[in-house]
Amino acid sequence: MYTMDWKKKIEELKKGTIPEHLAIIMDGNGRWAKRKRMPRKAGHKAGVEKLKDVSRWCGELGISVLTVYAFSTENWGRPTDEVSFLMKLFETTLRKEKKELLKNKTRVCVIGDRTQLPAKLQELIQDIEESSKHCDVLRLNIALNYGGRREILDAVENLYHAVKDLPAEGITQDYFSRFLYTYDVPDVDFLIRTGGDMRLSNFLLWQTAYAELYFTSTYWPDFNQDELAKALSEFSRRQRRFGKIREV
Ligand code: FPP
Repeated sequence: MYTMDWKKKIEELKKGTIPEHLAIIMDGNGRWAKRKRMPRKAGHKAGVEKLKDVSRWCGELGISVLTVYAFSTENWGRPTDEVSFLMKLFETTLRKEKKELLKNKTRVCVIGDRTQLPAKLQELIQDIEESSKHCDVLRLNIALNYGGRREILDAVENLYHAVKDLPAEGITQDYFSRFLYTYDVPDVDFLIRTGGDMRLSNFLLWQTAYAELYFTSTYWPDFNQDELAKALSEFSRRQRRFGKIREV
């Protein structure tokens, strides 16, 4: 919704610092559903709706990259019917939302080990990545079967195969980052986690080294424009020093 209120908030926020790369751990779908005496699946469906809204809001705010945690390498441990429901939900969402994503000029990329995902889902991922390649308003990275430690190990392996004879001192942080799944986007500036827990849960471990962290107890389906504005105005007030001395 593009209300007058929201338009004013955008203008206000744009006077401050807007993160270039925002990462979100969308937690609390299950508890949101439970509180409403609905099945967990209803929470995940509401979570998808919220992701659609938030991606649009990020585009309106001028955020260039949004990376969201949709399914971790640990999430396979959930009951099988929830796992297969989530896989189906990712499939239907990619199928149904393709047109809208392209209309909003959203480039979709999936990060994580996709080889373990259902074949149909892999096809849909490839299709949306290919079709949205030219989109330049928002880059939406969806972390699916993603684990931060796995990503770092994959990077080590790829680097090893790519450059066996590189002297060890040639492996700078910059060089190493080129082997991560996120090789073509800047590090995370701001990370938001909904749902009340205060941890990273194996999400973007390398990329969040200097990110500002923001935790809210709001469940993901309840996260709204006010919450996003509140988080972003806090980001704007934070002094990022990257390990250096505070400027006076
Ligand atoms: C965490 O809530 C959420 C998930 C594991 C799934 C997140 C997925 C979506 C929001 C859908 C994204 C859709 C696409 C197409 C990318 P939880 O189940 O851990 O909630 P709980 O902590 O309350 O149990």
